Amino acid sequence: MAEFFTMDHQSHQIFGDDKVKMVINTLPPNGGSGTFSYSKNSYFQKRSSSVEESKIEEEIQKKLDVKKLASASNMIIRVADFGCATGPNTFVNAHKVLEAMKHKHKSQCPNTETNPEFHVFFNDLPSNDFNTLFTSLPQDRNFFACGVPGSFYNRLFPQSSIHFAYSTYALHFLSKSPEVVQELNDPAWNKGRIHYTSASEEVVDAYATQFARDAGNFLDARAVELVPGGMLVIVMQGVPNGMPYSHIINGMLFDCMGSILMELSKEGLFDESEVDSFNFPYYAPSPEEMRKVIEKNGRFSIERMELTDPAPWLKSMEQVIPEWILHVRAAMEPIFITQFGNQATHQMFQRLTKQLLDKRHLLQTKYRDKIQLFLVLKKN
Ligand SMILES: C[S@@+](CC[C@H](N)C(=O)[O-])C[C@H]1O[C@@H](n2cnc3c(N)ncnc32)[C@H](O)[C@@H]1O
Repeated sequence: MAEFFTMDHQSHQIFGDDKVKMVINTLPPNGGSGTFSYSKNSYFQKRSSSVEESKIEEEIQKKLDVKKLASASNMIIRVADFGCATGPNTFVNAHKVLEAMKHKHKSQCPNTETNPEFHVFFNDLPSNDFNTLFTSLPQDRNFFACGVPGSFYNRLFPQSSIHFAYSTYALHFLSKSPEVVQELNDPAWNKGRIHYTSASEEVVDAYATQFARDAGNFLDARAVELVPGGMLVIVMQGVPNGMPYSHIINGMLFDCMGSILMELSKEGLFDESEVDSFNFPYYAPSPEEMRKVIEKNGRFSIERMELTDPAPWLKSMEQVIPEWILHVRAAMEPIFITQFGNQATHQMFQRLTKQLLDKRHLLQTKYRDKIQLFLVLKKN
């Protein structure tokens, strides 16, 4: 019982310039099902999101009035996943959310014969490999499926049409890297680095400003699309208030990538200016920063916001370095290929694994406890 169609939302284009479009189109992870594909290398994200599973069930049980939402919409509940990639994690998430809502509905209406039907919208950027997503849709699903291509920083749905929205491991991707970090004569010029980790205060501020703008746009769009009483759940990378990213394990990753790329440029694979002009559009906010964005928007109540340990099962990072880099490669490779080409990108990931193995003792000292931001919002 599935319905397939895609919707395009040209009317809400915000990108005037081709370069920005190009960057955003290279954000989707590796498609297909090959060695470096996201579909084969995304179970770290799955395990990390699953840490929040019981909390999401609890929030739905306590705070989502499924009976009221369903009866006000002809018994059709609409759910959206923002940044779904190619699967399979998105299907696992959809299944859990739907089960929790059905359970809630049953507890509210124990004697009813009429259960809500579910329509699930899978959103990602247009260049995402939606074919892999659609061909791997679970055969035994009990929801109607629909793909929605477009940036989640824009409007993607009609007003008051979505009852439950979630996004896992996607909102730390910015719509673009801040312009000033690429400008030669600006104090925020990020020479020789590819990220704000270990960079100057000006660079960190430029990224923080870009995040606040993007997250604001995300919330503004969802505030229009969600019905009153609807719920928005976000799981993403985060940092404790005030902690510099260089203290965090993922920060070491960006520092190593940057220094390997500089090394490769010195070996003549590309010009050093390619590193200077490349800044990975990724920002992990603190709860304090997130709270400010939500309060500025003013149309959601914060039901729950906390930092969690995304990998309580992991005793030592040393055990998983090669697998970790495979996951990073699957999620981030296309944007590096666009900037540095296939050969150099391949070299970078090969050297990254080796370098992190060599520096494993330093890696062990990096902070990795509370670096997942979990957020439950309710639309007023
Ligand atoms: C690491 S994947 C996470 C996928 C999945 N939610 C999971 O938990 O495994 C991040 C996804 O966010 C998508 N993404 C990044 N920026 C986006 C944007 N502005 N609009 C829509 N999707 C975006 C990427 O294309 C990618 O598929």
